[in-house]
Amino acid sequence: MSAHEPLVFSGMQPTGNLHLGNYLGAIRNWLKLQQQYRCIYCVVDMHAITVDHDPKALAQATREVTAAYIASGIDPKRSIIFNQSQVTAHAELAWIFNCVARVGWLNRMTQFKEKAGKNSEKMSVGLYTYPVLMAADILAYRATHVPVGDDQKQHVELARDIAQKFNNDFGVADFFPQPEPIITGPATRVMSLRDGTAKMSKSDASDNSRINLTDDADTIAQKFRKAKTDPLPLPEAEAELKARPEADNLISIYAAFAEKGKQAVLDEFKGAQFSTFKGALSELVVARLSPIAGEMRRLLGDPAEIDRILHKGAEQARAIAAPVMAEVRRVVGFVS
Ligand code: TRP
Repeated sequence: MSAHEPLVFSGMQPTGNLHLGNYLGAIRNWLKLQQQYRCIYCVVDMHAITVDHDPKALAQATREVTAAYIASGIDPKRSIIFNQSQVTAHAELAWIFNCVARVGWLNRMTQFKEKAGKNSEKMSVGLYTYPVLMAADILAYRATHVPVGDDQKQHVELARDIAQKFNNDFGVADFFPQPEPIITGPATRVMSLRDGTAKMSKSDASDNSRINLTDDADTIAQKFRKAKTDPLPLPEAEAELKARPEADNLISIYAAFAEKGKQAVLDEFKGAQFSTFKGALSELVVARLSPIAGEMRRLLGDPAEIDRILHKGAEQARAIAAPVMAEVRRVVGFVS
């Protein structure tokens, strides 16, 4: 198999309202990976402009997501943190990949269909080729591992197809690796506090549906108090959670923060009323999130420092992408 050095790449869009789902579902896994691998964590601001956006809000959200990465423990000395638009290799490779990927491949992307709905004719071309830019993000660094949620698996598979077709078409076997998705499991799929069958989302109209990383202790406690539950006490066995999505979600959040299995949490709380359990859950979540929120506020008070970190990360990223892009230009036949 390939001899590519292990390298982790992942990204998150800069949009407001970072929440518990982003933390448990993505950022927390990134932290673990940084112990073991060389990692690049990108704030994908170019993906954010595929839909209508407000330029001021975009700049603010880029700094907020960067602050959230760092406050959560992603260490800019260990991992590369930068915003996508600062490294032109992403746009350049995306264009070349637009000429490698087939229209039929993109027509199969389920996320575009979901986002566009009946309005696909009115969507930007950028939204349509969004997954091609994502492939360029990954492959500009020849990244081998891509931690993503379930909903992005198809996009990583597209990146694999693009890598393979590029290698074949230009006769450069193994030039690009076949990036592997690292799917962050269902244990960390955080659901809405108002509906245990819908994902926790920054676009949900109800702020009570999510715990934002910047919520203060009172707000967190209040949101858990209001969270939807069923009338039964907590069950004895994990299997009984299957039919109780809201209970399952709250137990999962507790388990994730306590770093225990769900059964171990039930062993502690079986037979308890939700009011009791929700109190313990709030306490745990507040204890874990408040240092992150505090550090985020501190960082956001010094935007120049955030920008300096992003500049430095971009410089490091450019240095990795530069030799890859030089080779890409040569094999494609561009004179330089
Ligand atoms: N599309 C991803 C998401 O919405 C974000 C993303 C962009 C990404 N480029 C990436 C994730 C490259 C992993 C690797 O979550």
